[in-house]
Amino acid sequence: MAEADLFPAITGRFAAADLLFLRRARRRAVRTRPYAGLAVLHNVPLTGETMCKIEVLVAGGADLVVTSPTFMTPDPLCVGALRAAGVEFRAEHRFPEEFDVVLDCGGELEPLVTPRLGTCELTGTGTRRYRAAGPTYPVIAVDESRVKDLEALLGTGRGFVHAFRALVGEPIDGKPFLVFGYGKVGRGIVRALAPHAGRIGVVDVDRAALAAAARAGCEAMHADEVGRVEDWARQAFAVVTATGVPGVVTAAYDPGAFAGAHLANMGGEDEFGDAFAQADVLCAKQPVNFSVSDPALVRYLDPVFHAHNLGIDLLSCARPRPGVQPFPDFLADEIVDAWQRAFGERLDADPGVRGAALTAGGGGHRDA
Ligand SMILES: NC(=O)c1ccc[n+]([C@@H]2O[C@H](COP(=O)([O-])OP(=O)(O)OC[C@H]3O[C@@H](n4cnc5c(N)ncnc54)[C@H](O)[C@@H]3O)[C@@H](O)[C@H]2O)c1
Repeated sequence: MAEADLFPAITGRFAAADLLFLRRARRRAVRTRPYAGLAVLHNVPLTGETMCKIEVLVAGGADLVVTSPTFMTPDPLCVGALRAAGVEFRAEHRFPEEFDVVLDCGGELEPLVTPRLGTCELTGTGTRRYRAAGPTYPVIAVDESRVKDLEALLGTGRGFVHAFRALVGEPIDGKPFLVFGYGKVGRGIVRALAPHAGRIGVVDVDRAALAAAARAGCEAMHADEVGRVEDWARQAFAVVTATGVPGVVTAAYDPGAFAGAHLANMGGEDEFGDAFAQADVLCAKQPVNFSVSDPALVRYLDPVFHAHNLGIDLLSCARPRPGVQPFPDFLADEIVDAWQRAFGERLDADPGVRGAALTAGGGGHRDA
């Protein structure tokens, strides 16, 4: 493969400068063919952004089978472009053959494939799944590294605000938001909302997370403070879930308290639960940021996708021990430092929530 793009109609949507790591990796891949002779199974939601990652593997000579997790519909344009380039796309999760390396997302391939060298997993949900299964082969967890914070803390939050604005079509400035879960995604949402929203309430079960939310200027509530959470929901312009717990709202709260707010799920599964119809929640309960694409956000995915691909290099060269282990710190630090230098954004910056001194009460509730 030459230096030219393999899928120009798709990858051409993104600015080359935003693909800091993948473009560099592709140049190396063309030169050294690091993946030649390796059978690789790739299971990441098939989007235009993902094609920038797949391109590196193709350029590097991998014997590649591409599939897509069941929780998202693969982009038909990407499926067509893969087929046109002679790369196998397999719609069904049936794998009679053996693979050297699995690049997984959400842990869906854990019960289906035992790779010869190992797996590299992208998400927290998938990492928990692999850990619970006690694999006899190495599993490298990109989620357990600072690289993932670039996407979850900075990119996903921005993606949320961009998508929410596009979907709701009302100004968000000065409006109160209630966020369930102050983990990586929740913190990112708060950070991206902070310059625009008014008060931000945060619900969590973890004392350290609540303390961090309070330090960031949010009104922090333990999930067990049911009355307080419901009061907040009644006044909220929007309620956003990012706990990773399916049905977290239905399980503990009166659904009526949420009836007047815009409801948005950012978790991989339906976090509002059975008490809410699909029509009650934006995007029929799917993560809202998946529904509205913004090519400018690829810069937050680029380092994470690069780290995921580097899983092949680690598994084939370093031969790690069996079991789940984090993506190595020394590589993560190098990637994060280079990214921060290139884009001038920092993971440790203060979110600066406005209206921090205010308590719940009054204003902002959306017109139901
Ligand atoms: N939409 C996206 O683009 C995107 C990106 C990455 C991850 N995700 C998904 O978002 C979800 C959260 O991911 P994360 O990486 O932030 O997870 P995380 O584990 O870092 O954070 C989850 C937070 O939720 C809290 N929590 C748990 N139970 C709770 C409860 N009952 N009430 C309130 N808070 C509770 C936890 O204490 C923790 O602070 C997952 O489903 C993940 O798959 C979505």
